Amino acid sequence: MKTVLITGSSRGIGFQLARCYAADGWFVLLNGRNEESLRQAQVLLENEYHAGTDIFVCDLSVTGSAEKLYDSVRRKGYLPDCLINNAGVGYLERSWKIPEDRDEALVVLNDISMMTLCKLFIRDHAESGTGTIINIASTGAFQPGPYIASYYASKSFVVSYSRALAAEAEQYGIHVCVFCPGPVDTEFYERSGGRAPAGAMDACRAARYCYKHQSRNVVIPGLLNRAALLVPSGIKMKIVGFLKKKQLK
Ligand SMILES: NC(=O)c1ccc[n+]([C@@H]2O[C@H](COP(=O)([O-])OP(=O)(O)OC[C@H]3O[C@@H](n4cnc5c(N)ncnc54)[C@H](OP(=O)(O)O)[C@@H]3O)[C@@H](O)[C@H]2O)c1
Repeated sequence: MKTVLITGSSRGIGFQLARCYAADGWFVLLNGRNEESLRQAQVLLENEYHAGTDIFVCDLSVTGSAEKLYDSVRRKGYLPDCLINNAGVGYLERSWKIPEDRDEALVVLNDISMMTLCKLFIRDHAESGTGTIINIASTGAFQPGPYIASYYASKSFVVSYSRALAAEAEQYGIHVCVFCPGPVDTEFYERSGGRAPAGAMDACRAARYCYKHQSRNVVIPGLLNRAALLVPSGIKMKIVGFLKKKQLK
C-alpha cells in the first residue's frame, strides 16, 4: 500500500487532498497543530473510505520542527511514497504592522519547513529512484502582493524552489510538482484577516485538479488563473493592492 504524508491536512485543501488519496487506497499520514481536528479528519477518512491513516501533531512554523516531524514518521516505520507540503498561512495587513516573529514563523512554515521536508524525502528516495513531491504554492507567487506581501513573497519562493528541485530530482526518478491555486474557499482567508473573494474555487475541486494533473511540474487550476499569467506582473500587483487594501480593517 502506498503512503502519502500531507502537511496541514486537518481541513481545507490538505484534507481534500487526503480524501483523493484515501479514495485511491493510499495510507494517509495527516499533520496539523491541533490533535482533536486531526482525529476528526482521521475518523472521516476511515468512515468514508476505510482508509489507513495516522496522525502527527507538529507545528511546522517552529525552526527544527520539519526534522522532528520527518523523524517521527520514519521512527514509526513509514516511508512515504509521496510528500505534500501543504501547510501554509498568510497575513492581510500593512507589512510593517505585522510583528517580526509572526512573519518569521510564516517563512519557517511556508518555506523553510517545505524545503527541509523536500531534502529529507529526496535523501530517502534518491537510491530507489521513485517518489513524488507536491508543494502547494499559489497564483500569488506570480506577482508581488501589497498588503499581503510576506505571503506572496513566500509563495514565489515555493514556485522557484520547486521548479529548480524538479530539474535536479528528475534524473533520480523523483517527480516534483508545484500546485498554484487561485482563491479557494477555505478558512485560510478568515484566519489571514480577510475574506474569501466571490467565485473562490471549492476546495474539493481544487484538490481533485491537483491530484489529477500532478504529473506536470506546474499545475494551475482554472482557465482564468492560467490566463492571468499573460498579464504583466506590474498590472496584477496594482489590482491585488487595490483589492487587498479594501479588505484592511
Ligand atoms: N485558500 C486559498 O485561497 C489558497 C489559495 C492558494 C494557495 N493556498 C495554499 O494552500 C495551502 C492550504 O491552505 P488552505 O486554504 O487549505 O488553508 P486552511 O483551510 O487554513 O488549512 C490549513 C491547514 O494547515 C494546518 N496548519 C496551519 N498552520 C500550521 C502549522 N504551523 N503547522 C502545521 N500545520 C499547520 C491547519 O491545521 P491547524 O490550524 O490545526 O494546524 C490546516 O490543516 C496553504 O499553503 C495556502 O497557502 C490557499
